[in-house]
Amino acid sequence: MKELRKAVFPLAGHGTRFLPMTKASPKEMLPLVDKPVVQYTVEEAVASGVSQIIMVTGRGKRAIEDHFDISYELEDVLREKGKMTLLEDVRRISFMAEIVYTRQKESLGLGHAVLCARNLVGNEPFAVALADEVIDGKEPALAQLLDVAREFDAPVIGIQEVSTSDVSHYGIVRGHEIREGLFRVDSLVEKPRVSEAPSRWAVIGRYILTPDIFAILENQSPGVGGEIQLTDALVTLASHRPLYAVKIEGKRYDTGDKAGFLRATVRFGLKNPELGPEFRKFLSDILAHPESE
Ligand code: G1P
Repeated sequence: MKELRKAVFPLAGHGTRFLPMTKASPKEMLPLVDKPVVQYTVEEAVASGVSQIIMVTGRGKRAIEDHFDISYELEDVLREKGKMTLLEDVRRISFMAEIVYTRQKESLGLGHAVLCARNLVGNEPFAVALADEVIDGKEPALAQLLDVAREFDAPVIGIQEVSTSDVSHYGIVRGHEIREGLFRVDSLVEKPRVSEAPSRWAVIGRYILTPDIFAILENQSPGVGGEIQLTDALVTLASHRPLYAVKIEGKRYDTGDKAGFLRATVRFGLKNPELGPEFRKFLSDILAHPESE
């Protein structure tokens, strides 16, 4: 597989699971302690070797562009006040990667969002990362996929096992395990009923794809929810060429969901070197004396 340089971030979703918070603010800008969710996923991509990020945004997502841009006024203020560490942190965000933007003008689904990046990706392999799924592991999630993509010179999707009751929220893999945690994909089903799920292995928002997916997406008819599904296009891809699925090591937080966001906030709060110890005490006090709250 050619060097992986680009990652597509589909960001045009409305965040309906997080209303009313997402009425005027992008869900990807929700903070986990002191960084917006999308920054964690950009950092993961950069740590995996990606140098260009193609953000597929939509109306109401301007705050994301501003976050990764330079902020002259803020930088001036920080410089004047001598807050050099903060200044460095703020500037680093603007130079982490080359970021380009395009818009998905209509909400036609994840497959359509990826298709919107076609010309920006060109004829090379690329990653897709769903930014609101934050994965906290020793090795960056996309780097784990990339190891397999290189080994087999093939597209790869990231999976984790979910409970039976959750299979209907995900794309689910039908495949055979060729070694522990690594599957050759026979097929996939987008958001199956529990009774129809071929396994409990769920696609978790990390993909390494080859550019032949675009021709498939272009002709993809709408699937579940009337949307053009990336999962359906992957079914066709898997019938043309080997497609692999690899179990991603790391804790995954679906921050686009209220409960998932709360879990991530607690976890990252506890891990924070400055805030962690006091936050831990606060949480254990609440748990020990819930009635005093
Ligand atoms: C999308 C994909 C689905 C995948 C999921 C991971 O669904 O279509 O296959 O399992 O992301 O979060 P969405 O949650 O955007 O509806």
